[in-house]
Amino acid sequence: MLAEILQMLRTGADTIFYGDIVVSMAALPGEALREIRDGERGGEAVELCEHALAVKPGHSTARAEELPERAVESRGDASSLAWLGTVRRSQGRYAEASEFYRRALALDPEHLQAWMGVAMLLTLQGNAAAAVPRLRELVAAHPDSVPLRATLGDVHCDLGAYGSAVECYEHVLDGHPEHLGCRLGLARCLSHRPLLALRMRSPRHVLESLEVEEVDPDLLARAAAALLRASPSPLEDPLLLSVLRHALLTDLGVERALTQARRDLCLSPPGDAPELALALTDQCRLNEFAWPVSPEEVARLATAPEWVRAMYGPEGIAPEIVERGRRIPTLTPISGGTSAEVRRLYEANPYPLWRRFSRGAPIDLDQYLRLLTAGEWEPPDFLKRPRLLVAGCGTGRELLSAAWTWHPTAVTGFDLSRTSLAYAQRMAERLDIEVELYQADLLQLDGWERRFDAIVCTGVLHHLDDPLAGWRRLLELLRPGGVMVVGLYSETARHAIVAAQEEVRGMGVPPTPAGIRAARARLGSLPPDHPAAGCAVLRDFYHTSGCRDVLFHVQEHRFTVPRIAAALDELGLTFLAFEADGAVRHLYRTLFGAGTNLAYWEKLEQLYPETFLGMYQFWCRKGDR
Ligand SMILES: C[S@@+](CC[C@H](N)C(=O)[O-])C[C@H]1O[C@@H](n2cnc3c(N)ncnc32)[C@H](O)[C@@H]1O
Repeated sequence: MLAEILQMLRTGADTIFYGDIVVSMAALPGEALREIRDGERGGEAVELCEHALAVKPGHSTARAEELPERAVESRGDASSLAWLGTVRRSQGRYAEASEFYRRALALDPEHLQAWMGVAMLLTLQGNAAAAVPRLRELVAAHPDSVPLRATLGDVHCDLGAYGSAVECYEHVLDGHPEHLGCRLGLARCLSHRPLLALRMRSPRHVLESLEVEEVDPDLLARAAAALLRASPSPLEDPLLLSVLRHALLTDLGVERALTQARRDLCLSPPGDAPELALALTDQCRLNEFAWPVSPEEVARLATAPEWVRAMYGPEGIAPEIVERGRRIPTLTPISGGTSAEVRRLYEANPYPLWRRFSRGAPIDLDQYLRLLTAGEWEPPDFLKRPRLLVAGCGTGRELLSAAWTWHPTAVTGFDLSRTSLAYAQRMAERLDIEVELYQADLLQLDGWERRFDAIVCTGVLHHLDDPLAGWRRLLELLRPGGVMVVGLYSETARHAIVAAQEEVRGMGVPPTPAGIRAARARLGSLPPDHPAAGCAVLRDFYHTSGCRDVLFHVQEHRFTVPRIAAALDELGLTFLAFEADGAVRHLYRTLFGAGTNLAYWEKLEQLYPETFLGMYQFWCRKGDR
């Protein structure tokens, strides 16, 4: 647990809430704080942390509230009031939080902690814009304050002002490369606006972030590709080796240049494997050998050195994964028809293959939902430590990310595909996260007596014959008042993908690695105005399993916002919020004001048809009875 707290401290949070524990950064001396964040003095960091705990484990939340109250009574200073404001903020008691911050600022109008608290409070209430002018003034007056500039970065990011956010994060990282919160923020911004990398003063932050274990490297892939395209000698650029090793490259131009570099190495290999060849091998494993191979290369491979052959294979699933998959317990039989076909697809191509996800400050699920609904919905207490089910968990990326982020009491996942589950299990072991995994068909779950407080089901229901029948089955496992996050394909966003699927169907190639390479080659060479050309913007286009999932699926339904509204109605569910990035949420607020309304979301999607290109991903709530 302390490890998690220390991890949270490294993210640059001002106050940590972990169950009944509250750690105030204000209570830690600045020097100690830096050492904790740098991870330099593990043992002493633990002691310091304990020293700063307002409440020890095992105490009730009520006590957590009392302690700062007492501190305020005895000290009555601006810092205590600001801290109390932050405690109230974390409890969703925004009016009280606001009052405490106001009192703190009445005592000390320049109190940074209080101002940052006000900014975060406004952000939580969906009004981050109101915080920007004051934060800017404070940054100008206190240019060396790291938390202040990081907070301004976060507020900009929340408003979708990614350029301004990147400036703040860069500024902090220049002096504090260990600031994980700013690294994560930078990666988030660059994933939305990769070309901002070209405007950065220190693009080395992109390279350095690729090497940080807690940052999802794929968020940086397009920014790195933009930098490489602008580089005078991309093949000598150190960024190239780093991005090849860590992130799936998703840029056709860069892919072509690297395919040529691989071909040159294959046809005229130097005596020893150059570093580039080893990095290319890593990249080709990440994309599952999706790049085109010429007949000349095929002819040379039989006699080529081993390091050359490693850039081309072996394809397919590692025997260790197949063996591990056999040992996953079975919960239900698998139905015939679509379930059997879908299972075959994902046994051969577990999806998505991944190596890292962003590990920021964990946040309780109730807090997270309060944030997502801009404080308009008060989540029930049981969501603080929910029993979580991830239905159709695939290779476990969201399962493990949810387990890491939301502090569930237990996480259960199931899927049709044993190889996917084996991959998930291996990643869980690597990350030391406890999960319970089963092979099961969600259509066969009737009679399972388990109940859950929250269910995650993204990218699954649209692959069923009857998505609503599957959805209904999952709702039987959800407790009254429980929440569910659902991910469904958008009809509006997927025009280019549907055109690409038709193109591939017309080619008549099988969904084998060679067939997938042929399909990619055809789609990648289409003129930009071809209706299917847009499929190359998808990450999935750049790796074999992704291509199979997106272009060769056996069953795919697509939804519209009105169809989602009708489904929610039919199932007796209440819509809570879409998962959307800062720019989209800001756009919605600018166009339609506060709150959330599906009719307005439909309008927004008509205006900006690619808004839900990934998927519609939204939270909904079951009734209390
Ligand atoms: C596109 S993948 C999504 C995986 C994961 N949810 C994610 O978003 O990363 C779809 C997954 O749903 C699973 N699936 C599809 N139909 C299912 C069913 N009837 N029962 C259980 N799992 C199913 C597939 O095996 C596959 O792993």
